[in-house]
Amino acid sequence: MVKVAADLSHINTPSKVTGHAGKDSLAEALKGAHTVVIPAGVPRKPGMTRDDLFKVNAGIVRELAEGCAQYCPKAFILVISNPVNSTVPIVCEVFKKAGVFDPRRVFGISTLDIVRSSTFVHQIKPQFEPHANRITVVGGHSGATIVPLLSQIKQVSLTAEEIKTLTHRIQFGGDEVVKAKDGAGSATLSMAYAGARFTNALLEASVLGKKGLIESTYVHLRGNTGAERNMGLTGLDYFAQDVELGPEGVANVLALPDLSAEEQRLVGIAIGELKGNIAKGVEFVTGGSAVPAAKL
Ligand code: LMR
Repeated sequence: MVKVAADLSHINTPSKVTGHAGKDSLAEALKGAHTVVIPAGVPRKPGMTRDDLFKVNAGIVRELAEGCAQYCPKAFILVISNPVNSTVPIVCEVFKKAGVFDPRRVFGISTLDIVRSSTFVHQIKPQFEPHANRITVVGGHSGATIVPLLSQIKQVSLTAEEIKTLTHRIQFGGDEVVKAKDGAGSATLSMAYAGARFTNALLEASVLGKKGLIESTYVHLRGNTGAERNMGLTGLDYFAQDVELGPEGVANVLALPDLSAEEQRLVGIAIGELKGNIAKGVEFVTGGSAVPAAKL
């Protein structure tokens, strides 16, 4: 931990970097934090799904969430630890249990799916500028729950066959890295980039008051402004979609745009899988169904 802190401390920002290790230093590390990014846990090995990590990572995330609920209950909590589809519900249920849950402040980072979408589209359509154009990705963050809305792209046109191939590559992009690392883990550098991009956007919206910042992210729908439509369409309590960020975190959950017939089919499959992922996370904390959130 000290080694990682020394490494990070060379980045040219005005921040002070400190390292803390072990459960006993949670209070010291978290007290009064504004934003907490949780990448902790074990990575996948070839042949594993993100859900296979639940056994180990669920407990790690629950323990960190309990620390956050106690020492920085007002912090923004940004979850990278997989399976994100289940670990975000774990954080939310821990916060509900502690009576400090605010649905605007907990995010599942699915930004790498958006980053991959732009990169992969650029690779087959070089005129698509990957830095300047953002592609909306909805659903969740694993396999078939990742639904890139490629039909919405205005800058280039894609054939149905290209959309099919790209969609599959985006959904299983994480597997390419897991395979390349051959047992030594999953994406770390592109994930760090994606995490930094989302965190910076949230800080710009919340601290600097920048308006109109939109990112796709996996959030608790109930209790968030604008979420009713997507809740009605999906029947889910958690979903990734475009969200406008603001001073308190989620300012507005944007309604899903009109989907192509193929995207509707893919969202249907994602919903089926997400139901199980969400229930698993909720049950891990409550032993049963979700606890209703207290009114803000
Ligand atoms: C990713 O999308 O690369 C990460 O969620 C890590 C993984 O297991 O694929």
